[in-house]
Amino acid sequence: MQWTTASIPDQTGRIAIVTGANSGIGYETAKALAAKGAQVVLACRDPERGEEAATRLAAEVPSAQAAFMPLDLADLATVRAFAQAFGERFPRLDLLVNNAGVMVPPPGVTADGFESQMGVNHLGHFALTGLLWPQLMLSDAPRVVVVSSMAHKWGCLDVKRLGQPQRGCCCKGGCSCGSWKAYGDSKLANLLFVNELASVARGAKPGMVVAAAHPGWSATNLQRTTRLRRLNGCFAMRPWQGALPTLCAATDPEIVSGDFIGPDGCLQARGYPKKVRGSCRSRDIGLARELWAASERLTGVRFPGECAGA
Ligand SMILES: NC(=O)c1ccc[n+]([C@@H]2O[C@H](COP(=O)([O-])OP(=O)(O)OC[C@H]3O[C@@H](n4cnc5c(N)ncnc54)[C@H](OP(=O)(O)O)[C@@H]3O)[C@@H](O)[C@H]2O)c1
Repeated sequence: MQWTTASIPDQTGRIAIVTGANSGIGYETAKALAAKGAQVVLACRDPERGEEAATRLAAEVPSAQAAFMPLDLADLATVRAFAQAFGERFPRLDLLVNNAGVMVPPPGVTADGFESQMGVNHLGHFALTGLLWPQLMLSDAPRVVVVSSMAHKWGCLDVKRLGQPQRGCCCKGGCSCGSWKAYGDSKLANLLFVNELASVARGAKPGMVVAAAHPGWSATNLQRTTRLRRLNGCFAMRPWQGALPTLCAATDPEIVSGDFIGPDGCLQARGYPKKVRGSCRSRDIGLARELWAASERLTGVRFPGECAGA
């Protein structure tokens, strides 16, 4: 039987954060969680787009308990401010969906000087998860879901250069190879983070689930800076369907820590959720530990009480 939004168990009483919830996969994830009774925080970088998404969600799901809170993953000061404001406003965190992402934007760095894709897609989420860790520990059944991509397969990740601006490549004429590689690296980092976080969670909280998902190919704003957007009409899924792997990882009782959920169709580009396998590199425990240590050093965030690599 296909896994659809009808498969989502009742979420009443659960408090969730979805990053990048104003568009695409994040919006559809927040909407489906709210429709099942969860209280959802839409964590978005642009206040206008965040408020507009909360208003749209309230119109589409009249029973929704959803609110916008500002979070710019490209600026660790706002990540800290978000975590503090969340802790003051909510009693605990049951579900964190690390969804926000950028793909092949114009080359640039975050406020903290990290290459923008690694900065937003991995380092911002690493810091956010660490800063929200105390709130997650207050939940009876906390879950963290990280949205990765099939692009992790072309990531190779030189941890010594983590977060450093892209290197030029051997092509001439201002190609975007370096940006695509940086995107793949950031999505590989997402999976390595899930695997190491799953092991930290096992020691910290019995019953905690840490899982990954990828949405296949879904027509969203993600492709806006790339030529891929021209092919969206022919090949891509609609965002509501692209959100199903995330929703499955976030709510299905059968999911266990370390699971990776993606679409079941051809090349995992389309279809309905199933358990999938990441690349060999994404399962490299040594690399995951190196990434964890470098992420702590660069962000200055340590997970309270954890002992990564122990
Ligand atoms: N669509 C696909 O085919 C596909 C495939 C594989 C993986 N993914 C992954 O799916 C996730 C969601 O992407 P999407 O396809 O739904 O694209 P999207 O519609 O562009 O959504 C991305 C979201 O991330 C937000 N965001 C970007 N930078 C941010 C920052 N610095 N701080 C906070 N939020 C930020 C965006 O906000 P703004 O609206 O303000 O830009 C937007 O809300 C990403 O992690 C992406 O890598 C997507």
